[in-house]
Formats: sequence, structure tokens, C-alpha cells
Amino acid sequence: MAKNKIAAGNWKMNMTPSEATAFIGELKGKIAGASNEVIVCPPAVCLANVIEAAKGTNIKVGAQNLHFEDKGAFTGEISAAMLCDLGVKYVIIGHSERREYFAETDETVNKKVLKALEAGITPILCCGETLAQRKTGVTIDFIRTQLKIALTGVTAEQVSGMIIAYEPIWAIGTGETATKEQANEVCSAIRALLTELYGADTAEKATVLYGGSCNAKNAAELFACSDIDGGLIGGASLKADDFTVIANA
Ligand code: PGA
Repeated sequence: MAKNKIAAGNWKMNMTPSEATAFIGELKGKIAGASNEVIVCPPAVCLANVIEAAKGTNIKVGAQNLHFEDKGAFTGEISAAMLCDLGVKYVIIGHSERREYFAETDETVNKKVLKALEAGITPILCCGETLAQRKTGVTIDFIRTQLKIALTGVTAEQVSGMIIAYEPIWAIGTGETATKEQANEVCSAIRALLTELYGADTAEKATVLYGGSCNAKNAAELFACSDIDGGLIGGASLKADDFTVIANA
């Protein structure tokens, strides 16, 4: 059965709350008839504004991170309950920038995935290899390890509803997109791993996105690949016209 494609925007550390409100105001009309599901993930301080501005539209809202503890002495962190209270439905977990600059490990990523699921928030779980790993030929082994650890203790039913984003680190923000063959090869390998761990039915239901310099020009050919269910979009999600093209790709 054909699934809806998803265009998920990762705004990273861009836009103030006022800019975010204005952006959703501009985007909502353009994107209203989009053929793909649309998710935007603004910075935490913009979430309340974006949720308010997106009310009654087809734009769903996600966060970019959460902490794995329920509450307590974790200065600067945001809990699952806080996100739920705002009405956040998705959360990006384990983005390569969080792993590189904020010391996230496969183990903390796993804890965050479990916490999000417990709270009823859909994880957008990121994985991806470095250029050195690709050149050494260990890409698929590496992705399998990342995902096996990240999914420890996650049930088949939970995985069915999850979003996994394959984002080769060498393609993020570089303008160098993976070819559709490279992207689909790894997305197929992710689906094969899910089949091994959870069975074909679960693997088929789970959503697998590609991310890394996905843009208005290349989205259609990437999304047409057999194992790519859409994209996680950084830079191009900050431009309303480009993101609209991607949401219709
Ligand atoms: P990019 O970022 O589209 O700007 O390459 C993608 C991401 O990091 O999610």
C-alpha cells in the first residue's frame, strides 16, 4: 500500500519566535494543498508560537530535542512532558549535530527515543555515516549498529509508527546530496534491518526519510525511490517557496 510521503523541516538554530510566526503565516497558504504530510521542527522557544500559528492548517509541529529524564536538575534541558503540554507531536532525536557538538551517544539517543515514545511523541530518529566511514565501506554496518542501539527496548508496534531519517553527515548543509541510488541503498538496508528485528509488516509501516542537502530540485527524484518515504530538510525548509515544492514532490 502506498504511504503518504513526509516533508519534515528541521529549522535548526534559525528564526526567532516572531520570525517563526510570520513564516508560518506565509507558509500555510502556499502549502495548504500539499500532497505530502508536512512537519516543521522549530527551535524550542518558537514551539508555542508555531503551534498557535499552525492551528487549523496541515502543518504538524515537532521539537528538535528532548531530555530523557522526566524532570529535575538538568539546567537548560526540556522534558517530554513540557513538549506534550505545548501540543508537540514529533521530536527529532540523535541528529548528527547533536551527536557531534552536544556529546549525544547511541545510548542517550536510545533513552530519548524510549522517553518520547512513552510520552506519545513520535521520534524522528536520525542516523548517518561520515565521509570517512563511507569511503572505508562501512556505511551499512555503521547505520545498523546506530539503529540497533537506538531501538533497544522499542516494540514492533512503536517502530511501526516511528520515523527514521537517514542523513549522511557528508551531505548535511554541504550542497552535496547523496545520489538517489546511494540514498535508496541505505534506506533499503534500514528497512531490511527492521524486517530482521521486527518482521516485514513493521518494516513496511515504519517511515524512512532521506536528509542531507535535499532541496526543491532533487526532492522529487529522491522521494520516488522505493524505500524513501520523504525527506528531513534543513536549509531548504527555511524558504517557504522551496519547502512548498518539496511538500508536493
Ligand atoms: P540540510 O540539513 O538539508 O541543510 O542539508 C538536513 C538536516 O540536517 O536535517
